[in-house]
Amino acid sequence: MGQPNLAKQNLSGRHITSRTIQAANFGIHQGHLVLINPGNPIQQTISPDRLIPLCSIPAIHTMKEDILLEQTCLGHLTALLEASQGIDHIIAVSGYRSKQDQEQIYNDSLAENGADYTARYVALPDRSEHQTGLAIDVGMLREDVDFIAPAFPDSGVYMSFKQLAARFGFIQRYKQGKEALTQISCEPWHFRYIGYPHAEIMERQNWCLEEYIDVLRSYIYDNDHLLYEDDQSFVEIYYFPADIGAYTTIPLVLCDRYLLSGNNVDGFIVTAFLDKSRRAYG
Ligand code: DAL
Ligand code: ZN
Repeated sequence: MGQPNLAKQNLSGRHITSRTIQAANFGIHQGHLVLINPGNPIQQTISPDRLIPLCSIPAIHTMKEDILLEQTCLGHLTALLEASQGIDHIIAVSGYRSKQDQEQIYNDSLAENGADYTARYVALPDRSEHQTGLAIDVGMLREDVDFIAPAFPDSGVYMSFKQLAARFGFIQRYKQGKEALTQISCEPWHFRYIGYPHAEIMERQNWCLEEYIDVLRSYIYDNDHLLYEDDQSFVEIYYFPADIGAYTTIPLVLCDRYLLSGNNVDGFIVTAFLDKSRRAYG
């Protein structure tokens, strides 16, 4: 994969709309780009048929037998573990949590670790992105893995996992220096699936998810779009605010495929892929 290009598009008012998408407005609370934090709690529970057990991939080491992840997230996690050669060295510690699971973890941590530690490392129920099925805590495979704060060093296969994560659509969600925005302390073990190329863009710009969702809000359909290019595709990213009412009609730029996600705040993000090989060969 070559060095991707990141640019703004200066084509105000000249986007070629191929068709429109009719999106139900509850969809702003669904998708891979939902922002979950103290100010933006979970509004939609993931459908159980989209949660897949990690034990369906026997090569992955897991701390418990019943860890679940959202299906696309699990597929990319498996590919990332293989690419980083971490599959024999990394253990999946915690994935999907129900609201009740998060309540239990929060209360257990309060009792065992106190209020200060818990506020730094455990989200309140409905403020944890583990409830989306899109977050995975990973740790160094060894005896005595800490459930809340597993060791995940900056070396060896762990470093390879961290360096390759964005290519597979994952971000380290809680980074050093971003605590004022995320309201959570640095967590080297917590990875969140948001999809490619969003994770690559965030990594390159050193944006946390709070910053990225805010930045995307300026790339409205009628104005510049955020452009990303790699060897395979041109990717066009833009934001469309939810209309008042039950539905929003979203214009779709010319593309070969697209992804639609809510931001869990106020609108939708369109990620439109134009395949270079299809363009070249007709
Ligand atoms: N450890 C993260 C913040 C959570 O509890 O969701
Ligand atoms: Zn976590």
